[in-house]
Amino acid sequence: MNDIINEILKLKKEKNAVILAHNYQISEVQDIADFVGDSLGLSQQAAKTDAEVIAFCGVHFMAETASIISPNKKVLLPDLEAGCSLAATINADQLREWKEKFPNSVVVSYVNTTAEVKAESDYCVTSSNAVKVVEAIPPDKKILFLPDRFLGQYVSAMTGREMEIWSGACHVHEKIGDVNFDDAHKEHPGADFLIHPECGCSSSCMLKSQVYFDCKDIHIFSTEGMIRHVKESKAEEFVIATETGILHRLKKMKPEAKFYPLSENAVCEYMKKITLENLYESLLYEQYEVKVPEEIAARARLPIERMLAIV
Ligand code: 13P
Ligand code: SF4
Repeated sequence: MNDIINEILKLKKEKNAVILAHNYQISEVQDIADFVGDSLGLSQQAAKTDAEVIAFCGVHFMAETASIISPNKKVLLPDLEAGCSLAATINADQLREWKEKFPNSVVVSYVNTTAEVKAESDYCVTSSNAVKVVEAIPPDKKILFLPDRFLGQYVSAMTGREMEIWSGACHVHEKIGDVNFDDAHKEHPGADFLIHPECGCSSSCMLKSQVYFDCKDIHIFSTEGMIRHVKESKAEEFVIATETGILHRLKKMKPEAKFYPLSENAVCEYMKKITLENLYESLLYEQYEVKVPEEIAARARLPIERMLAIV
């Protein structure tokens, strides 16, 4: 294990590379990364790095976003099979058809979309800034929000904006909606509940937190928002409703606290495609380069830059 870690670090220096990893990556990959974060944080890092090569330990749309923002850098994804079930729920043709039905609308796309879909969009959002971005859009504008229906419902509830919402979902987070939230609440009455807005239960949990429990301990957060909350919270127990990869970072940060995943089965097989072995090969052979054609990148850059300007 130490050998491969040393080899990766050596290659990283030789190639002037930076390793970016999402919060859902396996522990070993998180530990070797220069930066671990959520989709927004990773985009910001990709935008400001001086490195020539970005080894992206995440999924394909995230590497595409890095390539769009930093077209002169070489962006590597160690396994091209690292896709995203949510991003796959809408393609550019489907979006164009949808737009035709609602002329003059503003298209707000979650960052979990392909570059082609971003190129057809007006704004990009991540789970940590979706509410802020939607609030910045003039109230008389009709909004088409895509592709995640749970995030869309959450944003609509938080902003009071009626929106057309695409009916996509992430196969990992959608199932978290089937977990019995009330049982977990009884089991861990003193815990803070941290819920990702992509979860099937996010809207009902929010309603419960505000209506039934008058509970100040239920929070809807992006993955990085969860990290920040735990850092500042005085609670000793946390129930986490998102992909379980994040538990590694949380436990490392606060070893004295107890963390319970709301669902042990919330594992994204796409995120787990990246290993130390394929990261090593990726740096060694400079594979697999993710490069968005400039014609698409130029159009996709605009919604991403608008998003980065608002946060
Ligand atoms: P975050 O932006 O909250 O990290 O979410 C990314 C993602 O893919 C959630 O499934
Ligand atoms: Fe996509 Fe869901 Fe995996 Fe996130 S957890 S990368 S939304 S499939």
